[in-house]
Amino acid sequence: LWVAVIGGGQNCEREVSLASAASVRAALDPARYVAVPLTIRPDGRWLGPAEQLLGDTPATGLAAALGVLAGCDVVLPVVHGPRGEDGALAALCELAGIPCAGSPMRAGALAMDKWVTKLVAEAVGVPTAPGRLLTSADLPAVFTGPVVVKPVAAGSSFGVRLVETAADFEPALRAALELDDRVLVEQVIHGREIDVAVLDDPDFGRRTGPPLEIVLDDGLFDTTAKYDGSATFRIPPQLTEKESGELSQAALRVYDALGCHGVARVDFFLTPDGPVLNEVNTMPGMTAASQVPKMFGAEGLGYSEFLDRLIRATPG
Ligand code: DAL
Ligand code: MG
Repeated sequence: LWVAVIGGGQNCEREVSLASAASVRAALDPARYVAVPLTIRPDGRWLGPAEQLLGDTPATGLAAALGVLAGCDVVLPVVHGPRGEDGALAALCELAGIPCAGSPMRAGALAMDKWVTKLVAEAVGVPTAPGRLLTSADLPAVFTGPVVVKPVAAGSSFGVRLVETAADFEPALRAALELDDRVLVEQVIHGREIDVAVLDDPDFGRRTGPPLEIVLDDGLFDTTAKYDGSATFRIPPQLTEKESGELSQAALRVYDALGCHGVARVDFFLTPDGPVLNEVNTMPGMTAASQVPKMFGAEGLGYSEFLDRLIRATPG
């Protein structure tokens, strides 16, 4: 089968997407799949399989890229963040009738929006950090104690700051507002950071993989710690049966409520009162340092076999 692997993109996670797409291409089983790389440049223009510029503008490039996608059997849209993971690429494929791995447009759009995700999760009984939504119209805003400030739609912790003093609040809001015109201000949740991946497994049905705990010597699992290899992943973490069950149930409930498909990584804080949802990634990091390949690897599902299942789970 011919598999279009789209990487890059037009947001702050572009470099992560390039690394994820390269890892995916390298891991695709050559006995079964031919990878057809396509790259979206920061200016919106597209590069074709031979890294040639497709068209002179985003529009003409997109038209040419659509021709390449139409010649493939399935699309792997390995673009994190807005104009990719937010359902934009799924929408393109849905309009064109091209099979696309992962979540459909609606789930991508809902999950990319951390505010909407919070409302949906709470509605199905999965707790999230108490928070409020701010826009630039709300500035200056009142500082109410230690909070996490984050853009509503971004990823890899870009624009995310832990704010402990009133003096740091306004700069944090402005930094987040540079990445999105809506910003989330959340209470700090103290708990262990545990990720749960959900996979629509063509062989076993929709299921969770082994949970993963992020262990840091000190500090935050920020953009640097996410990709410099300084964080330790514990797979599986030490959890009671009750904790594992609650994490797994919460992950599945949110995945289903958002209408996800394929794979998603659902990130939690595990508190003494149970799991608190942090966020959902419908195109989670796929780099060699990322969680999802390692999580499934820990149960004996190699990266190639994981991708094979993701592709086989894609509706035709
Ligand atoms: N947003 C990054 C890629 C992640 O979820 O791993
Ligand atoms: Mg994320």
